[in-house]
Formats: sequence, C-alpha cells, structure tokens
Amino acid sequence: MGRGLFITFEGGEGAGKSTQIRRLADLLAKEGRQTLVTREPGGSPGAEAIRHVLLSGAAERFGPELEAILFAAARSDHVEQVIRPAIEAGKIVLCDRFMDSSRVYQGVTGGLDPAFMRALEKVTVNATMPDLTIILDLDPEEGLRRAVARRGEDTADRFEKETIAVHRQRRDAFLEIARAEPERCVVIDASRDEDTVAADVAAAAARTIAAHKQLVAPA
Ligand code: TYD
Repeated sequence: MGRGLFITFEGGEGAGKSTQIRRLADLLAKEGRQTLVTREPGGSPGAEAIRHVLLSGAAERFGPELEAILFAAARSDHVEQVIRPAIEAGKIVLCDRFMDSSRVYQGVTGGLDPAFMRALEKVTVNATMPDLTIILDLDPEEGLRRAVARRGEDTADRFEKETIAVHRQRRDAFLEIARAEPERCVVIDASRDEDTVAADVAAAAARTIAAHKQLVAPA
C-alpha cells in the first residue's frame, strides 16, 4: 500500500486557511486523488472534546503549560486515530493548523520554555511530520478585520481576543519557522484575491506531490 502525503496549513486569524483548504481538496479530488480534510484543535472525537475545553477558555486559569499539554494531547489523539491511518492508506491529508500553531501560540507568544515545547512536540507528533506546510501570510490588522466580518455577532474565542502586538509577534514567528525549515515550508501572500492565492497553493502542493515518488497515482 502506498504512503500518502501530509500537508498542513498555518497562519493567523482570517488568513483564509479554511477556504484555501477546501479549494485544494476540491482540486485534488477532481484529479482523482483521495483526500482527507481535518483541523486542529480537534479532528478526532477525543480531540474535539479537548477543543471545547481550550477554545471556551476553561483551561486558561490553569496557565499556559497546561494549555500546551492539552493542545498536545488533542494532537496526539488526532495523529494516532485519524492522520497516520489516512496517510498509511495512501490519502493526501490536509490539516488546518498543526504543530507550528503550538510552536507559535504556546511557545512564542505563550512564552513557554523552548526545551519543554520541543520535548512535547517530539512525543506528540511522533514522526508524523508534515511533508509540506503552507503558511498563509497576512497583515494581522487585515486578518482580524476579515475574522470579525466572517464571525458577525458571535463573540471572539480565547485566542482571537489578544492585542494586535501579539498577532504581529505570531506572524513573525511563522515567518521565522519558514526561514528555518525551507524544505518543509512555503510562505504564500494571503493579502491577494482568493483565486491568486489558490493558484499558489495548488502549485506548492503539485511540487510536493511530484517530489513524492511513492505516492500512488490516481486511477
Ligand atoms: P479556530 O476557531 O480553529 O481558529 P482558526 O480559524 O484561526 O484556525 O481556533 C483555533 C485557535 O486555537 C486559534 O486561535 C489558534 C489556537 N491554537 C493554539 O493556540 N495552539 C495550537 O496548537 C492550535 C492547533 C491552535
């Protein structure tokens, strides 16, 4: 059985991750490829339960270390129950946020000890590293404007409520990850119109698929 591919999408609020994931999934399906779209925190029943605890802010009073551990616990369940089995079945897994979100939100803007974060990542991801990470890069003020417009009257979640300075720090942290791991990461300017961004996303995915010789060809 052929091994599939693992593609993650990262970026700040309102960068258009879910729209672009849906578009890439549609494109790959039209090419006859088997895809699985999933997201974090969540993506498996156990992880969805933890998602609720995290995004409601119920874990906030226990401090950033415990939040990081909960994100990691959710991720571990998601990897073991959903992501790894799908990759082993030859699918292309598209995931909305993954380990880089923990590096940035908990590690950088949460101010956690880098050694603690690295150790947590190692046990959590457990060798299921993304083959490609697409970072949708957008000025945070524009991202928040878009997020608010999309949300309408709903209240902001625990992680949307922070100041613009924190969102800028996160943008820089994602760009720093891309600089440090250029073979895994591609930065795409998400300020442009949806079709232009989608074309760049499709091109990045096509390059990774082409480089991935053992991927089963579509029927
Ligand atoms: P979600 O509603 O899925 O937002 P988005 O559309 O921005 O992806 O909420 C996920 C929130 O959780 C988001 O603010 C980022 C945060 N998060 C972390 O802090 N650490 C993580 O490891 C992950 C996966 C998400």
